[in-house]
Amino acid sequence: MKTAHLKKLAILISGSGSNLQAFIDAVANHKLSANIAVVISNRPDVKGLERAANAGIPTEVLDHKQFSDRNVFDQQLMKTIDQYGVDAVILAGFMRILGDDFVRHYQGKLFNIHPSLLPKYPGLHTHQRAIAAGDREAGASVHFVVPELDAGPIVIQARVAVKKEDDADSLAKRVLEQEHQIYPLAVKWFCDKRLVLTQTGALLDGQLLPATGFQFQHP
Ligand code: GRF
Repeated sequence: MKTAHLKKLAILISGSGSNLQAFIDAVANHKLSANIAVVISNRPDVKGLERAANAGIPTEVLDHKQFSDRNVFDQQLMKTIDQYGVDAVILAGFMRILGDDFVRHYQGKLFNIHPSLLPKYPGLHTHQRAIAAGDREAGASVHFVVPELDAGPIVIQARVAVKKEDDADSLAKRVLEQEHQIYPLAVKWFCDKRLVLTQTGALLDGQLLPATGFQFQHP
């Protein structure tokens, strides 16, 4: 396949990389016309790096513990990403907070997935918090990244019912299955030039998306 016209992605991970795998599969199955140019992990020896290597994708490790402060880490991360000349940066379970300089550098092409129905539960332990609050539904959100944590315009959300017998692990598992559907889809829209970030919010096919993003209907 010719790759010159394909959008190039950098995917940033910290762990298992099941969302990364969803991207690898979407590319392999021609559901996403993109080229994963590099996978970068801030942790060595994680499963996601193995998944990338198995798919023949170049990998880089930038161990945050080796850096004197956040800013130095962010600068090096930008330098590494920019060597690959990518069109979008995909945070896929990347467990580092990125500084404003980094976020501004990639504004409009920096995406994150968060395992809650934002604006509910930014930060950690989202599933536990949803269960503790007695929520009847939980889910995941893909959003453009802005300097404030987990707060950028939402592109798409998937909802799952919370069951009486759920604990954080069982709920996380069902939400993760939805993450694997919606994240490659959101990035496909971006690669197909259907999705753009503007001053007023995220536009899909020229229409401003609602504050909760496109609502994904799963079978
Ligand atoms: C996902 O639930 C993601 O939303 C969260 O961390 C998890 C990463 O999973 N930020 P994986 O590494 O993609 O398997």
